[in-house]
Amino acid sequence: MITLKSPREIEMMKESGALLADVHRHLREFIKPGISSWDIEVFVRDFIESHGGKAAQIGYEGYKYATCCSINSEICHGFPRKKPLKDGDLIKVDLCVEYKGAMSDSCWAYAVGQVTPEIEKLMAVTKKALYLGIEQAQVGKRIGDIGHAIQTYAEGEGFSVVRDFIGHGIGPTIHEEPAVPHYGEAGKGLRLREGMVITIEPMINTGDWKMKMDPNGWTAYTHDGGISCQYEHTLAITKNGPELLTSQGKEGTY
Ligand code: MF3
Ligand code: CO
Repeated sequence: MITLKSPREIEMMKESGALLADVHRHLREFIKPGISSWDIEVFVRDFIESHGGKAAQIGYEGYKYATCCSINSEICHGFPRKKPLKDGDLIKVDLCVEYKGAMSDSCWAYAVGQVTPEIEKLMAVTKKALYLGIEQAQVGKRIGDIGHAIQTYAEGEGFSVVRDFIGHGIGPTIHEEPAVPHYGEAGKGLRLREGMVITIEPMINTGDWKMKMDPNGWTAYTHDGGISCQYEHTLAITKNGPELLTSQGKEGTY
């Protein structure tokens, strides 16, 4: 079922998203060579809880952690672990916050130390793909317009778009209808309406889009070993256009 949110509900989700964005702003300073994704997990969980929020991924469909920490060829749902990050790694930190009953979801990619020019380009293209998708999240447009904008841009830059994981409606739970693919045909699919709150979260690969699943049943990798990047925002579709609920503030298009 697709639920349409009232302006008040959207305001509450924006408060939740502000706490989540604050986590990411702190991670910019926190993530460096030598720290581990377990250090990130502990920092994130403490930060959310000490600010009155709940780390909403814990217990979601049996998932055990506040964060998904996916490194290099891991596409998504990497478990936090004790192994230190090294210079040149790309880590994507994905988390959900519940605050006063309102849900938000945002993933951000971080370069650990100095990454290669190819990874720098992948990060820039993935972030721009997210914003091109967000631009399409307008009343009267269709779901396919979002995916089409992302896919044509990312593929035009020589990268591929993951098919197995997609954006989603959000609130009251993490995953609600509608499904929001990051590929597709313009003018096709569900018509977007005022009050829908969705995530857009393209996963873009240097190689092929196909994935393989870890025996742990959660973590997806690129099947060819290519690098994968992801950025995700939660946003509301309003009559004034898309409204970011997990915005990190003034820096560029955050
Ligand atoms: N935050 C993820 C998303 O963007 C949800 C991960 S599911 C979990 O949709 F179980 F790992 F939390
Ligand atoms: Co999501």
